[in-house]
Amino acid sequence: MWPARITDGRLELRPLRRRDAQEWLELRRQNAGWLAPWEATVPASEGTAPMTFGQWVRESNRTARAGQSRPWVVTRDGVMVGQVTVSGITRGSLSSAAIGYWVSRHVAGRGITPRAVALAIDDCFGTLGLHRVEINIRPENAASLRVVAKLGLRDEGVRKAYLHIQGQWADHRTFAITAEELSGTMVQRLEANLARGTQAPSR
Ligand SMILES: CC(C)(COP(=O)(O)OP(=O)(O)OC[C@H]1O[C@@H](n2cnc3c(N)ncnc32)[C@H](O)[C@@H]1OP(=O)(O)O)[C@@H](O)C(=O)NCCC(=O)NCCS
Repeated sequence: MWPARITDGRLELRPLRRRDAQEWLELRRQNAGWLAPWEATVPASEGTAPMTFGQWVRESNRTARAGQSRPWVVTRDGVMVGQVTVSGITRGSLSSAAIGYWVSRHVAGRGITPRAVALAIDDCFGTLGLHRVEINIRPENAASLRVVAKLGLRDEGVRKAYLHIQGQWADHRTFAITAEELSGTMVQRLEANLARGTQAPSR
């Protein structure tokens, strides 16, 4: 099941490799201010030591091989532009996962993330056979709320103090879809929604 790649026109979702270090670190450096308000942090009580890029890639691929995650870098024309990560994959009675994402500021607004997330959801349902996928978004993240609106995910309401972001526990809105709710693929649903025009979920 891992390594796995998904190619879709100019876009590709692929695993990170240790030799990606320079390009990855430069992309992250350029986007540090853009991403900081939305990035998950680890509470000090966890006592987690920071990892080098190489350690992080090794650990990401280990959890992916164990079937717990699908950590992809997103490339456009072979150049890294962001990340889509399927995490918390739980099998059995739950058969569910969560998806997180970001895209570089210099390519924001071009529909890269909705397309990449649609591909990842289709992989969750098609390749992994999961039942449900969720996306958790801070209520003030208008751009990310547009992503789930374009995908047509169901609003499941607010989870109080759900994730640790920028050093604090932050409320999140949860959006989800089950395989049974989807007729056709997520990519087809996205394309249909975009053709129709979408409304942002109410804030
Ligand atoms: C949220 C995010 C992933 C959206 O990715 P994207 O590939 O730009 O998605 P879209 O192209 O569909 O654009 C989504 C919305 O971003 C806004 N947007 C458009 N161009 C933009 C730009 N140049 N800069 C910032 N935001 C822009 C618009 O509101 C757009 O909605 P619209 O298409 O209805 O106008 C991206 O803004 C991002 O990485 N933000 C920082 C990290 C983050 O918030 N991650 C998600 C945490 S839940």
